[in-house]
Amino acid sequence: MARIVAGTAMSHVPAIGAAIDNGKTGEPYWQPVFKGFEFSKRWIAELKPDVAIVVYNDHASAFSLEIIPTFAIGCADAFPPADEGWGPRRVPVVKGHSELAWHIAQSTILDEFDMTIVNKMEVDHGLTVPLSLMCGTPAEWPFPVIPLCVNVVQYPPPTGHRCHMLGHAIRRAVESFDKDLRVVVFGTGGMSHQLQGPRAGLINKEFDYAFLDSLTRDPVALTKITPLEYLRESGSEGIELVMWLIMRGALNDRVEEVYRFHHVPVSNCALGHIILENR
Ligand code: DHB
Ligand code: FE
Repeated sequence: MARIVAGTAMSHVPAIGAAIDNGKTGEPYWQPVFKGFEFSKRWIAELKPDVAIVVYNDHASAFSLEIIPTFAIGCADAFPPADEGWGPRRVPVVKGHSELAWHIAQSTILDEFDMTIVNKMEVDHGLTVPLSLMCGTPAEWPFPVIPLCVNVVQYPPPTGHRCHMLGHAIRRAVESFDKDLRVVVFGTGGMSHQLQGPRAGLINKEFDYAFLDSLTRDPVALTKITPLEYLRESGSEGIELVMWLIMRGALNDRVEEVYRFHHVPVSNCALGHIILENR
């Protein structure tokens, strides 16, 4: 039986990818950011997961405003990095896990979640920056990845409650897969940030800290935050945090928090990061 052993979440600021790709990680602005992920790189290297489910949002790279799936799962064997305007990042092609992805698609759809099945897709900074933060700059990513996309770009996004429920459904799906796989789930995006309008640059540390506390101890409390409250308290792009609730819902009710990091600002964003292990 496959099982979920741990979850992690982190912001996915594209400037982090640019700093890595252009050799700037040692600059004073970037040093504290990458220092905050030294523990995490060791942690995941020791954990050696067989596969990662990376919950992220596409930023109009794979999906335009013509097609906007609320939830979509990548069932392909490979996902090349997307060109977001400066050419594709020079990072390895993301290898998929088609067999487990199809199983999760089947299980969650029969469990009454409307997943879009994606057989061809390029992945943008929403997925590749978290991989870079956790795995550095390897020649190949150390584990296959199942991309799980969530629409948080075009109103209306799914609620935090529905995302948490989807996490539960993913847990049931993984546990009904008949091969022994140790799975880690990534929730990405957030934390507080707003990229546009008169409040551009908004960061709310208090909101972020309270979110991190509740994520570990009382995620059900977070499922009551409405999209409007995310907008008001954590900025227009803070809604990305609902993806952290998918990760949390895929874990056990009780988890151990093994690491936490928060740093502001990174570009226009509050960078948050947490690692939770199933107990
Ligand atoms: C920034 C953050 C994001 O989440 C994103 O998708 C794009 C930009 C930023 O802070 O610059
Ligand atoms: Fe984003």
